[in-house]
Amino acid sequence: MASASGKAEAECARVSAAGPSLTEPGSAPGAVFFSRHASVQKILAISSVTRCTSNSVKHGRSVWLRSIFFNSVKYYPTKLVLGIETSCDDTAAAVVDDTGKILGEALHSQNEVHLKTGGIIPPVAQQLHRENIERIVKETLCVSGISLNELSAVATTVKPGLALSLGVGLEYSLKLVDKYKKPFIPIHHMEAHALTIRLINQVEFPFLVLLISGGHCILVVAQGVSDFLLLGQSVDIAPGDMLDKVARRLSLTKHPECCRMSGGKAIEHLAQQGNRLNYELGAPMRHHPNCNFSFSGLHSNATRIIMQKEKEEGIFQSKIYTNCTPDLWLYLQKTLLLTISLGLQEGHLLSCVTDIAAAVQHAVALHIAQRTHRAILFCIKSGILSQPNATLVVSGGVASNQYIRRALQIVTDATNFNLLCPPPRLCTDNGVMIAWNGIERMRAGLGVLHSTDGIRYEPKASLGIDISEQVGEVSIKVPSLEVSLNELSTINL
Ligand code: KG4
Ligand code: ZN
Repeated sequence: MASASGKAEAECARVSAAGPSLTEPGSAPGAVFFSRHASVQKILAISSVTRCTSNSVKHGRSVWLRSIFFNSVKYYPTKLVLGIETSCDDTAAAVVDDTGKILGEALHSQNEVHLKTGGIIPPVAQQLHRENIERIVKETLCVSGISLNELSAVATTVKPGLALSLGVGLEYSLKLVDKYKKPFIPIHHMEAHALTIRLINQVEFPFLVLLISGGHCILVVAQGVSDFLLLGQSVDIAPGDMLDKVARRLSLTKHPECCRMSGGKAIEHLAQQGNRLNYELGAPMRHHPNCNFSFSGLHSNATRIIMQKEKEEGIFQSKIYTNCTPDLWLYLQKTLLLTISLGLQEGHLLSCVTDIAAAVQHAVALHIAQRTHRAILFCIKSGILSQPNATLVVSGGVASNQYIRRALQIVTDATNFNLLCPPPRLCTDNGVMIAWNGIERMRAGLGVLHSTDGIRYEPKASLGIDISEQVGEVSIKVPSLEVSLNELSTINL
């Protein structure tokens, strides 16, 4: 393969030329850049991790790369997996070894483009993946100091996700494995999110996992690398999707403090300055004693509040905003054309935008905490997990929200569970989790393919054995943690 482009190429070239004795500014004394060309006896034990940010010259969008520095301990990797992720709107890749060391990674986010169009438009996402995948993989290998021939396998997300996005990653990966005669490991995106924690913490199976992202909301017990029990899931939209929609409806891309943030991140940011007590969004599924979730009711209620405030503040949105009822608005919003047109014509900011953000964030946190509380009690009651060493892992993009983490901490403190969350950058989509899932599958001897005949991507794919009905039948009453949860402060979390 030809060398990588842009600043990353310059960085890699500089590192290769300098060899193993190069000490990076800011790194620990004696730290050297890990390079394939450095020495036969490679060097392990990460002493510092550095991010170098570069811009894609062609598109002006941000790409970040991470390079790893090692001190002088001998390094003998036996397995190296390249992970490739394109299931939604991030083109990401990473090389991880079987000790869990991240040798290098690169990521191209489409977030800014989709913020402008008012949501992800699948053909646009597909085109951006096509434009970036080769560069991202090359940059990953370059900063890793690894050649394709040295890889043990290529692991790629094949399900679930946007069909057009998954297709780009799969097609590219199949070409790679065919050309370099490497084993291929198809990855379930949610399994990868669930197992990421084992890269960072020594968590033994079984453990409870809450995955909250833009596309999913599921509660599963992880019993093994590819052995899951599904306790509950969202019956409609995912919490990230709901937060993104509310953020769009509030025109938060117009807010100077969060114009480039994802919807969820923008809501979290503004909520810190708001008073959640000014609005009440209600609690979904109160009369369903199971572990399923629902966020579309909260979305409707938030939309109603926003429309009411717009009327009060005389904010003119557009005829289509003002003339339709909230339900009609929600229905229309599902049509692509309307999403695009409204995304482009953004309204004005409400004066109470921080209060609405705080109320929405609190309602989402409360709902997630209460359903997770029931899942914990079910696991204890059924003997699936036992204290005091039982663990709740929370991952997915929405898990980077500190307020939601605090609400979950209240629940785990009350039930004597440990709460573990990957760092935010590993909660959102990334290549590391895919590569690590590949390592986990190689170790367990599960799903490592030497022939790729008949491999297809699957836009829809559930995770594990569905026991959600049995969970509902037990009808566990969740003790009220209302007081503690209501004490959650939006300010200075
Ligand atoms: O896991 P992820 O990167 O992609 C999916 O697989 O969906 O999650 C993206 C979602 C988006 O909806 C985004 O708004 C949300 O995660 N998100 C957040 C935060 N950061 C990202 N939601 C709440 N608080 C945050 N800090
Ligand atoms: Zn994800």
